[in-house]
Amino acid sequence: MTDNKRPESMKRITDAALAEAFIDEQIALVKKQVGNKKVLLALSGGVDSSVVAALLIKAIGKNLVCVHVNHGLLRKGEPEQVVEVFRNQMNANLVYVDAIDRFLNKLEGVADPEKKRKIIGAEFIRVFEEEARKQSGIEFLAQGTIYPDIVESDGVKAHHNVGGLPEDLAFELVEPLKFLYKDEVRVVGKALGLPDGMVYRQPFPGPGLGVRCLGAITRERLEIVRESDAILREEFAKNGLEGKVWQYFTAVPDFRSVGVKDGKRTFAYPVILRAVNTEDAMTASVEDIPFRLLQHITKRITAEVDGVNRVLYDLTPKPCGTIEWE
Ligand code: XMP
Repeated sequence: MTDNKRPESMKRITDAALAEAFIDEQIALVKKQVGNKKVLLALSGGVDSSVVAALLIKAIGKNLVCVHVNHGLLRKGEPEQVVEVFRNQMNANLVYVDAIDRFLNKLEGVADPEKKRKIIGAEFIRVFEEEARKQSGIEFLAQGTIYPDIVESDGVKAHHNVGGLPEDLAFELVEPLKFLYKDEVRVVGKALGLPDGMVYRQPFPGPGLGVRCLGAITRERLEIVRESDAILREEFAKNGLEGKVWQYFTAVPDFRSVGVKDGKRTFAYPVILRAVNTEDAMTASVEDIPFRLLQHITKRITAEVDGVNRVLYDLTPKPCGTIEWE
């Protein structure tokens, strides 16, 4: 797989000047590859697809068709940020698909984590396929494949985001980041003018909040996950933990417990906080979060998020716990 091996002569992209050189080189290559044809991209708003989008907008402008599928499992503010950055600021050709009901209806009553993942993955392909069919003249599919995707899958994982499109939509791939490591992708993203919140964001699983709304997803608990996660992220940012802790999030189990509020008995959900550090996600240690901050976050979540009466901090390293709960 020679064309899947990073050239030995390729310098590590560590600063803005090297990023600019890479961007210029890729713009020329993309222009040469696609000419004046149209390119389709599934734009999740994650680092990799966002950097590909910003790069291709520079190279081919409106001939890049970005499709953002809102499956209802994104974090608070994410779909809005995609529209703001790409449509409003970068003037991208962006198709925003509100598929929230579709996904949540399909997931109704499904408690098994792997089944949930399969449904989310399959439905994503279906929605993306439908959007692809609505477009005319698409000949290329851009993807945010990065070097670890290729190395870790032994060159097999050609499809990073949108594997599984039917044969007649097997477009030629455009993968400008395929020789970059994650830190290099971030440097390039910064040079392309993407906001820090997008470039330095923590890892987020493809099935999104779907695997943090434990068991069968309900709209009520999904809202609890989303709102509590937003509070956790806000407090970590305010307290200088953003960028220092590798991954942090909340999860909500599918059982309630008894509590008391304003002198009355409550029967509501607990929120679990998780904050871990790791090198490669194979093992992970639990962050030593200041107790006062944990207390403050607990106070905010129980006061501001409806349907919550307890907050728990997960003290389990990996192994024996995984990072996610599902
Ligand atoms: P675990 O829970 O296995 O997670 O310790 C390791 C890392 O992988 C992420 N993760 C996923 N990412 N699709 C993804 O794209 C998934 O289904 C998925 N499950 C876990 C997790 O967030 C952590 O960073």
